[in-house]
Amino acid sequence: MILAANFKMNHTRASTKLYIDRLQICGKPENIQIYLFPPFTALDRYESVAVIGAQNGYPARNGSYTGEIGLEQLEEFEIKTILLGHSERRHLLGEDQEFIAKKFDFYKQAGFEIFYCVGETLEVRKSGSKELMEAYLEAQLEGIDTAYEKLVIAYEPVWAIGTGQSATPQDIQEALAYLRTKSGAPLLYGGSVKPQNIAQILEISECDGALIGTASWDVEQFCEMIQIAKEL
Ligand code: PGA
Repeated sequence: MILAANFKMNHTRASTKLYIDRLQICGKPENIQIYLFPPFTALDRYESVAVIGAQNGYPARNGSYTGEIGLEQLEEFEIKTILLGHSERRHLLGEDQEFIAKKFDFYKQAGFEIFYCVGETLEVRKSGSKELMEAYLEAQLEGIDTAYEKLVIAYEPVWAIGTGQSATPQDIQEALAYLRTKSGAPLLYGGSVKPQNIAQILEISECDGALIGTASWDVEQFCEMIQIAKEL
């Protein structure tokens, strides 16, 4: 089972260090793989029970890409895991599928483990149409090698991210069942996962773990979720 903490634009270098220290005490149950995606300024070669990944990366080794971070910078900290296609990058930062697929291809060539996010908008969800929903997810897989052996897919409905309102177990199960027809990769759910609902989510068939934003920023809550997952 995979539990991943996406810090987004939260935590500093100093607080990430404290977080990782606390996480060591919390420990790593055998059945769980823990991942942390801190902000770029907090990347380092940590001794940690968690695998440290990057929240994003430009599809180049280095070059004239102001404000971006590339393979050379990630290699310095031995980062071999990356998050791509997150809804905030798609919808707030305007990344289109073609660009995301280019990043995917680049980091795949570099041998990275890729956490790849997909998820429908509120409009699509509200339509109640299974066809529309599947077509939306399918479009987000365009240009993506779904057979890549180091791929993890996270289903994160846009309307459930950071809203406190998680998708229902049935919604999640349906989406994961659809994604399972597309890929043999581990499938995660993300979107307002917290200690109160994580057990129910992890029990969904086809659910191999969770990608957690808000509730993971407090290390005590993240530890609590690790403990809950351990018991399942
Ligand atoms: P959330 O974010 O847990 O705050 O909803 C999840 C994510 O964006 O990965």
